[in-house]
Amino acid sequence: MKAKTPKESQTVMTEIVLPNDTNTLGNLMGGRLLHWMDIAAAIAAHRHCRRIVVTASVNNVSFGQPIKLGDVVTLEAKISRAFTSSMEVYIDVFVEDFRSGNRIKCNSAIYTFVAVDQIGKPIEVPELLPETNEEKERFDAALRRKQLSLILAGKMKPEEATELKALFGK
Ligand SMILES: CC(C)(COP(=O)(O)OP(=O)(O)OC[C@H]1O[C@@H](n2cnc3c(N)ncnc32)[C@H](O)[C@@H]1OP(=O)(O)O)[C@@H](O)C(=O)NCCC(=O)NCCS
Repeated sequence: MKAKTPKESQTVMTEIVLPNDTNTLGNLMGGRLLHWMDIAAAIAAHRHCRRIVVTASVNNVSFGQPIKLGDVVTLEAKISRAFTSSMEVYIDVFVEDFRSGNRIKCNSAIYTFVAVDQIGKPIEVPELLPETNEEKERFDAALRRKQLSLILAGKMKPEEATELKALFGK
């Protein structure tokens, strides 16, 4: 299977915050942003492996500041590492102010997707070759995040998390 670069699967999605997306303060609801992030990340994961992908976990989501009615929200999703059947996807969220047009990064999240066959069984995905410094940093730290996510999901024993243990040993 041919290895791919993050650029090949990069997905950019732009939305505008409409009244039905907001809470009673007129700010974007967290659940709506999670939904948009899930879609952008799923498309990036699909572009990487060209198979059906399912969300396996959602981590590191924080809502730093409110996003307002009328703001333009841009989501950039990129694969940060591919394992055997799973792919870690980074989503960076930028907001363009309605009046000034200034664009600021307002949050990021990390999703894990798994490629599956027609009956939902995990299947192999192509390797990822990071290119830029940021892509290499995210690639290097992805195994630690995978082990933490598996421990929290009760799918890995803490003593088996070699990468995490090495971090605390430093
Ligand atoms: C995700 C799913 C396919 C994993 O199936 P499984 O039988 O647990 O398969 P495995 O244990 O072999 O795991 C498959 C891969 O997922 C990874 N994985 C599973 N759970 C994970 C988690 N919580 N965090 C990170 N990675 C996870 C495994 O590490 C493995 O990765 P690898 O093959 O790259 O090493 C299965 O749990 C599923 O279908 N879940 C529901 C998905 C869904 O419907 N999502 C929408 C939300 S409603």
